[in-house]
Parts: sequence; C-alpha cells; structure tokens
Amino acid sequence: MLIRRAQDIRSSEITEESLYWDRRKFIGASAGAALAALIPVAPSLMRTRQDEKLTPYDSVTSYNNFYEFGVGKDDPKHNAHMLRTRPWTVAVEGAVHKPKVFDIEEILRKYPAEERIYRLRCVEAWSMVIPWMGFPLASLLKEVEPTSKAKYVQFVTLHDPEQMPGQLRTVLPWPYMEGLRLDEAMHPLTILATGLYGKMLPNQNGAPIRLVVPWKYGFKSIKSIVRIRLTDQEPPTSWNQVLAREYGFYANVNPDVSHPRWSQKKERRLGKIRKQDTLPFNGYADQVADLYAGMDLSRYY
Ligand code: MTE
Repeated sequence: MLIRRAQDIRSSEITEESLYWDRRKFIGASAGAALAALIPVAPSLMRTRQDEKLTPYDSVTSYNNFYEFGVGKDDPKHNAHMLRTRPWTVAVEGAVHKPKVFDIEEILRKYPAEERIYRLRCVEAWSMVIPWMGFPLASLLKEVEPTSKAKYVQFVTLHDPEQMPGQLRTVLPWPYMEGLRLDEAMHPLTILATGLYGKMLPNQNGAPIRLVVPWKYGFKSIKSIVRIRLTDQEPPTSWNQVLAREYGFYANVNPDVSHPRWSQKKERRLGKIRKQDTLPFNGYADQVADLYAGMDLSRYY
C-alpha cells in the first residue's frame, strides 16, 4: 500500500514541511526503489515553484471548510472522526456505457496515488500549498466510457446526518454537490485525491476520496464523494443554489472578478503574514486558459 491511514500515524511522526523536503531530496538522491515507492513523485506534473513552501501539515488539517462538520474552521478537525470511511463506495453513473459502483479499496488498488503539489485558493482569500496524493479523474471516467451525451460531471458528497451532524442545519442544501464541464473533468490537472503528505486523507480533508481542481476556488474541490454522475445539462451545485450571485458554476480563480464580500486580487498564504497577488487561474493559466477561449469570464464566473 502506498499510503497509511492518518489515524495510524503518531503525532511524533507527523512530517514538517522542511523534513518532508529533506526526505524527498534523499529519495531523489538514493533512487532506492522501495523508498521511492513510499512517496511517488511525478516531477513533470509538479507545478509548484520549488521556492514555494509547503503549508505545514498541522495547518492543512486544522483549518478547513467542511460544513457537514460545522462552519468554524477548526470544527472539521474536532468532529470529522464521526465519519466512517469504510466500507465506502463511489457510484459512477449517468451518461456512460459502463456504469459502475466502485469499492474504495478497488479504486486505491487500481489507481495508485501519485504526488501532486498544488496551490489551493479559497474564495475567502486564503491559500495553501499541499502535497496531495491522487490520480487523474480522467482515468476513472475513461473506465466507465462516457457516451456522446456526456457534457458535464456532477459530484455528490455522502448524505448522512448521523455521521455528518452539520447536515442537521440548513446552511447549505444537502448533500453537498459540485460540478465540472466534461473537458475540465478530463483535464490532466484534475485529480481525485486519496491522501496528502504521503498519508491517507484525514477525514477533515475529505476522506476517503475528494476532488482537487487547482485552478478553481476551493469550494469546487468537493469532499467525501459517493456519487459521480455524467449529464448532458449543467448540474446544480450547492453554493450556486444558495447564493448564485456570489458563487458561479465555473469558479475559476480570477483576480479581476471580485466577490461581493472578498476581493480576489490578493490572498494570504496560511502561515504567512504578508498578502500576495492572486494569479489568474491560480497560476495554472498556461495549462488551462485554452479551456475558456472566447468566454466572457466576468459573466461566466
Ligand atoms: N466539500 C464538502 N462536502 N463540504 C464542504 O463544506 N467545502 C469546500 C471544499 N469542499 C466543502 C467541501 C470549500 S469552501 C473549500 S475552501 C475546500 O473544501 C477546503 O478544503 P480543505 O479543507 O481540504 O482545505
């Protein structure tokens, strides 16, 4: 197995980002096959500049948005232990030739996690740099063979107020739902993450499987997914349903389109005091801007 469960890790083992880099350098130098298998690296896909420091593990796992466990930033860390992540299935259905209900163990076996260091920027103007473990969403979608009708992909989180007490409150329409255009979903930067920092995904970060779309605001990166549905129509999304003026379907990081409550021009990297400029498409423009050629991005925000 490539990664261990977060609960199996003693706090003394938790990797600080500096140690993590040292270990990565060591692995690169030794090129030992067994060690390399512990922390797989796909250098061609790592888009973070080397001078960008990773956000410490503690911040990544204790400052979260996961409203199913409360609306405070540290609520998920305290409450997400209530989520049972085994057994777990993900249904992939809709406009596909081969619909299938995947067991999470089959997904972990079939689609080995590789490391992707991505920036994640929240619409609330904070950001992190996270070493995710995951695999391209495209691999899973190809397996079910989308039909010619498939134009969009909808994602749905578990709905179970017993495990997710935040669902007893009506802050959002439950279950949490998100969506992508099919070409965005098939883009090689779009991953399903099953871990971070070389370990299994902690519950508060969306265990056992969540989406990561690094050029979009964080709310597109839906957690604890149980259903993926291919559709011919733009699917409803939770935040758009509740506040359409603030949260569009596209949600591409865009410093030029302001949100009514937060400027998108600058962001605060967690752990840093000084704000920094927010980049178009969160710095991934060279890889994704083509997807939106000719679109008015202030209208399709
Ligand atoms: N997924 C679910 N199911 N519920 C949520 O409340 N919050 C979103 C997104 N995915 C959310 C979710 C928001 S607003 C953000 S910014 C990211 O998760 C935060 O991911 P992180 O906690 O791993 O940083």
